[in-house]
Amino acid sequence: MLDPATQPSALRSKAIAAAGDELDPANLFNITWRGPDHGVRHLVLPKELTGVKANIVVMLGHFFPSGSHKVGPAYATLMEGELAGEIEPGKSTTIGPSTGNFGIGVAYVSRLKGYPAIVVMPDGMSAERYQRIRQYGGQIDVTPGSESDLHLVLARTQEYRKDPRNKVLAQFELLPNYRFHRYVTGRSALEAAKPYGNGRVALFASAPGSAGTLAAGDEIKSAFPDCRVAALEPHECPTLFNNGRGSHRIEGIGDNMVTLIHNLLTTDYVALVHDDDCVLGLELLERHHGGLESLLGLPAKSLEGFEGLFGVSSLCNILGAIHTAQFLNLGPDDNVVTIATDGFDRYPSVLADRERRCGPVGEKDLSARFEQVFRGGDAHDILDVRPREQKERLFGYKEKSWTPFGYSLPYLEGMKSQSFWDGEFGKIPAIDANLLKARATEV
Ligand SMILES: Cc1ncc(COP(=O)(O)O)c(C=O)c1O
Repeated sequence: MLDPATQPSALRSKAIAAAGDELDPANLFNITWRGPDHGVRHLVLPKELTGVKANIVVMLGHFFPSGSHKVGPAYATLMEGELAGEIEPGKSTTIGPSTGNFGIGVAYVSRLKGYPAIVVMPDGMSAERYQRIRQYGGQIDVTPGSESDLHLVLARTQEYRKDPRNKVLAQFELLPNYRFHRYVTGRSALEAAKPYGNGRVALFASAPGSAGTLAAGDEIKSAFPDCRVAALEPHECPTLFNNGRGSHRIEGIGDNMVTLIHNLLTTDYVALVHDDDCVLGLELLERHHGGLESLLGLPAKSLEGFEGLFGVSSLCNILGAIHTAQFLNLGPDDNVVTIATDGFDRYPSVLADRERRCGPVGEKDLSARFEQVFRGGDAHDILDVRPREQKERLFGYKEKSWTPFGYSLPYLEGMKSQSFWDGEFGKIPAIDANLLKARATEV
């Protein structure tokens, strides 16, 4: 997944040819940040747009099979389960607790590998998400509310565990999610940033849902120990910021919890972003790029290529990256890496809803709206969580969230040491070797 060029060339050609038919199982070999040219798919935002000196590099998840990078952890969790003999074709049903994209990924990889799948998710997510899951043959079990009611998803998931045929791909708890992102996303991020500025990464910014993506920060820090990692949250649900709770409009993130797989040791800052700014920012980039180009003095059509590449949480990541880069006073040599988890295909209904609530954005409002969204950063919305008392607060929150699900205090205590995370990461070569062995036997 990190480097498909290492696949046998006949397999690689088959996978590239399969990209036009997403239900062709060869697409399992396209679960990677890289395009057919082997480059990591990314873009660098124009500084006229960001208003900061640092280079903001956005990795593009939209091109993954099923339309978001969440298919990566779904595949990794399923495969690790198969290799451990816990998930068996013909016997197991996969269960995907999710706010949508992980569930889409679970339905997708399950379909390609021949497992029935049930996605447990809240009923308040975008219509496009449910449609995709059904399109891949997944069954949907909805719980009330939105991502801020994720505890209801977890409680429903517990019910499924009672039947041993059900295998929960527990993204919030299981370490394949951490391993995938630390190894695949982290190393891809290092490569994406290399051509720019000083070639290093000064800041990695990502809004946690499961906090899987944040694990990329661990790998970036292994290469550049002075890199800072910022976890971004909705202003309306500041859980990591101050144990706050609330509902919000940024689908996929801000789940009102500290997830089990979140390595709190390597999170340096928490930055808040207003949910409405993310929805409005998406509207501006998706529907008003011509107006923005004139407003910012950018060449005509220079923002056109962004169309379709971002979702609401991408805007959260972009805005959080901009605010934190400004806060840290990063300069033109500094690279900031962030993520566009999915693309616009999941959000036409969300913009239609915004228009119903707020009316359309007129050309005469564009300048004010742009200022509000892209220049609205406030230093009070950024918290340094490196001090010991902040770590203790966050560890305490994690403990409170996960002991009710049967995780022991010694296990949670172990997570307070970086050696726990490095040990989990260190399992990758053995997992890879087992996978190659299993494939050789299949052939
Ligand atoms: C749209 C979107 N953005 C961001 C995230 C957060 O990613 P992670 O779960 O790796 O923290 C998710 C997770 O489902 C998502 O669906």
